[in-house]
Amino acid sequence: MQAELNTIVAQVGEKASSITTRAEFEAFKATISGPKGSLTEVMKGMGAVPKEDKPAMGKLINEAKTAVQAIFDAVLEGLEAAEMAARLGPPIDPTLPPPDAGRGTLHPIAQVREEMVNLFRRIGFSVAEATEVETEHYCFDALNIPADHPARDMQDSYYLPDTLKVANVSQHAEEKYLLRTHTSTVQIRTMLEAKPPIRIVAPGRCFRRDTPDATHSANFHQIEGLYVDQNVTLLDLKATLDHFVKTIFGAKAKTRLRPSFFPFTEPSFEMDFFSPDLGKLSNKWLEIMGCGMVDPEVFKAVGIDPGVYTGYAFGMGIERIAMILQGVDDIRYYYQNDVRFLKQFA
Ligand code: PHE
Repeated sequence: MQAELNTIVAQVGEKASSITTRAEFEAFKATISGPKGSLTEVMKGMGAVPKEDKPAMGKLINEAKTAVQAIFDAVLEGLEAAEMAARLGPPIDPTLPPPDAGRGTLHPIAQVREEMVNLFRRIGFSVAEATEVETEHYCFDALNIPADHPARDMQDSYYLPDTLKVANVSQHAEEKYLLRTHTSTVQIRTMLEAKPPIRIVAPGRCFRRDTPDATHSANFHQIEGLYVDQNVTLLDLKATLDHFVKTIFGAKAKTRLRPSFFPFTEPSFEMDFFSPDLGKLSNKWLEIMGCGMVDPEVFKAVGIDPGVYTGYAFGMGIERIAMILQGVDDIRYYYQNDVRFLKQFA
């Protein structure tokens, strides 16, 4: 019986290398372990084995079964790999030039981000950055956002597991980490590090638990602006925003500030603009950003004396500006990376 088993294992090993299709594999497998297969036949012979030899024989059969199964598994793995390779087509050489010759371009969102950042650079702003993972203190508390504010809800923000420690994100106290919901965090981190005068813009990625639709995405981009010095007034804010809007949307564009509320600015406004040259969007007031004068509570949180310094802050969505400028009516196009879409902005 042992000899028979050895022959079967050897036979399976030999045949294995020549199998190229699943059908071939299944047919061969049936001749070994199918109801009439050679290995099955040997097992049926167990009945005739004397009682005292049964344990030893059983062991041999099991060993043979394991060996055969290992070979079958390897054959199957090989067949699957070959099928996958066939689906993937010929291997690609990533060093070859692209078939439709020409250079790539910046993503349309990056193009608008660069345009905005460069505009602010030219009028004396520098670029600041901070991490996308934040703590509640820098995202909310230091910005005077109260503990019961809806933005702090699990339903609105992405919190990280309590057990996680993020070594490169400094904590203010034992507090939760989350993905930043706005770039206003950079106001706080900047003011903690630099002394006024401070004049920064902070472009970056933000995250909110929005249900994706034509104008909402769980991941989007903002540009934050912050100017802190002695005697900064609302007039400075208005002049800067006018300059921004006229540069981006054309000299005929007009702006207006509408009273609003943010916990970190007082007074607070929504800024709308209006342009006669915007195609379908012409001659409508379009809301594009939140802004206001830095709230004294925020200055206190970062150790800047609100009796000496004042400042303004603004924040806007880059996608919103891009959609208006590029005539895109669904935010999701920006994230699908379909070259037919992207090429229109080359
Ligand atoms: N952080 C606010 C938002 O995401 C925008 C804002 C920034 C408002 C700065 C005022 C000042 O909606």
